Amino acid sequence: MVYRTLSLDEEAIAQDFGLPLVGFSLDYAFTLGAFDQDKLVGIFQASCVGDEADMISIGVLESYRRQGISRNLFKEFLSLRPEIQHVLLEVSKENVPAISLYLGLGFEKIGVRKNYYRNLKENCFEDAYLMKFSCENK
Ligand SMILES: CC(C)(COP(=O)(O)OP(=O)(O)OC[C@H]1O[C@@H](n2cnc3c(N)ncnc32)[C@H](O)[C@@H]1OP(=O)(O)O)[C@@H](O)C(=O)NCCC(=O)NCCS
Repeated sequence: MVYRTLSLDEEAIAQDFGLPLVGFSLDYAFTLGAFDQDKLVGIFQASCVGDEADMISIGVLESYRRQGISRNLFKEFLSLRPEIQHVLLEVSKENVPAISLYLGLGFEKIGVRKNYYRNLKENCFEDAYLMKFSCENK
């Protein structure tokens, strides 16, 4: 597996991945991919301002899950952006795999955002945890 930042030219393949992403040309956007040969199998995006990052998306193709790819994407992000001291994210309270991933990485739950996500399939809203990672707790 190769982990590397995605170039502006690769925005289209990243958008095809099917996760919410912001435009690559935005100054604060930082996007990493996990590649199996030439195939994009995992993606991570954060918006970075100063020493703080907001995680926008992380996801891995179903057949590549539980191989440590997301954990590696996050660790690679921290090593490529050493100025980042704090990372914030929201995650649906129903998303058990993602919450387990974040807790395992050292994130802590710091709040709840009521009705933060709309679940279109079940036509309802879901609460989100607000979670925070601090490098000093690594
Ligand atoms: C959540 C997601 C990103 C995890 O990616 P992944 O590459 O499979 O995760 P990793 O293999 O790095 O897992 C690291 C740890 O997270 C936890 N974890 C990951 N998937 C899990 C699952 N299905 N159930 C329970 N714990 C899980 C485990 O602790 C795991 O460590 P272990 O395998 O040694 O037990 C992936 O399931 C995914 O793409 N989901 C859809 C998109 C999504 O929900 N993204 C997050 C919100 S934007």
